[in-house]
Amino acid sequence: MPKVTIDGQSIEVSEGTTILQAARMIGGDIVPPAMCYYSTLKTSGGYCRTCIVKVTKGSEKDPRPMPKPVASCRTTVMDGMEVQNTTAPDLLEARKGVVEFLLLNHPLDCPVCDQAGECDLQNLSYQHGLAKSRYEFKRREFEKIDIGENIKLHMTRCILCYRCVKVADQVCDSRAHGVINRGDVAEISTYIEKSLDSDFSGNVIDVCPVGALTDRTFRFKSRVWFTNPMNAHRNCTKCSGKTVLWTSGDDVLRVSARKDVYGEVEEWICNECRFEKKEKSDWTIEGPRHIDRKSVISANHYEVKKQLKIDVSNQKAIDESAHNN
Ligand code: SF4
Ligand code: SF4
Ligand code: FES
Repeated sequence: MPKVTIDGQSIEVSEGTTILQAARMIGGDIVPPAMCYYSTLKTSGGYCRTCIVKVTKGSEKDPRPMPKPVASCRTTVMDGMEVQNTTAPDLLEARKGVVEFLLLNHPLDCPVCDQAGECDLQNLSYQHGLAKSRYEFKRREFEKIDIGENIKLHMTRCILCYRCVKVADQVCDSRAHGVINRGDVAEISTYIEKSLDSDFSGNVIDVCPVGALTDRTFRFKSRVWFTNPMNAHRNCTKCSGKTVLWTSGDDVLRVSARKDVYGEVEEWICNECRFEKKEKSDWTIEGPRHIDRKSVISANHYEVKKQLKIDVSNQKAIDESAHNN
């Protein structure tokens, strides 16, 4: 099995594992950010370049370093490979450049954007971005488009990660194309507008790393950090029925799929659960959702800490032994 070392931590992985997957197996801060890769969507990755890493040793057989940063989500591990992410200042500088590019045309919408507080781009800019844009040209402008009755597209916020296109193609039941044109005139195409009537189309909202695809049943109802996220489930014939309810008092403001530690949907949910079941009585509530401390949502979220249990049964023996010594 090939062995790879990332920021000084080694792991053996199976053939065909990418650097990003290996980093996720190790876990912690060494995992590169990923704005377009999605482990459950085939052919995702390779679009955004946020996951770049520095390969300082190609492999045991060919130890030459790779001449420039590589996308970790698309680069397969070789035996003996050595990789730097957080330990390479020049790589972090290059990632800043990637973030600056992603933000070139991005609007300053955070105060009015439904994604604020749970936006991967916001977090990425906070960690790697510049305080100020150097871009002096006019930013791209697009009309807001209704994609079906429950989803709105703000193309100005889109980073063309293709995740929604992959969902439309692989999770929804009819084929849908997504991006038309190339370069700075590329946009999510209106073909997708026509196709998004599938039972699972709402999942494009959850995979979108920014606020480009928003839930029309939730838009402008609340800042996300004022809501209380609760795990809930119901018997559903179309999906697992396992969701998160974003509540305020007795109101269910939004229903979304559950996401893992990397922000990826654990199980796709259907539109009926997402858009039509907005009463608490529709659901069996399991309890508060665990919220990462890094998220602004945690500012309004309280969890009962587990009682720390200390075993004092052998304390007397320890005390006596300490005394005798
Ligand atoms: S998508 Fe993210 S970065 Fe862009 S305006 Fe919305 S919250 Fe801000
Ligand atoms: S709309 Fe969202 S998911 Fe789709 S390509 Fe743009 S950023 Fe990605
Ligand atoms: S996550 Fe690797 S290129 Fe986007």
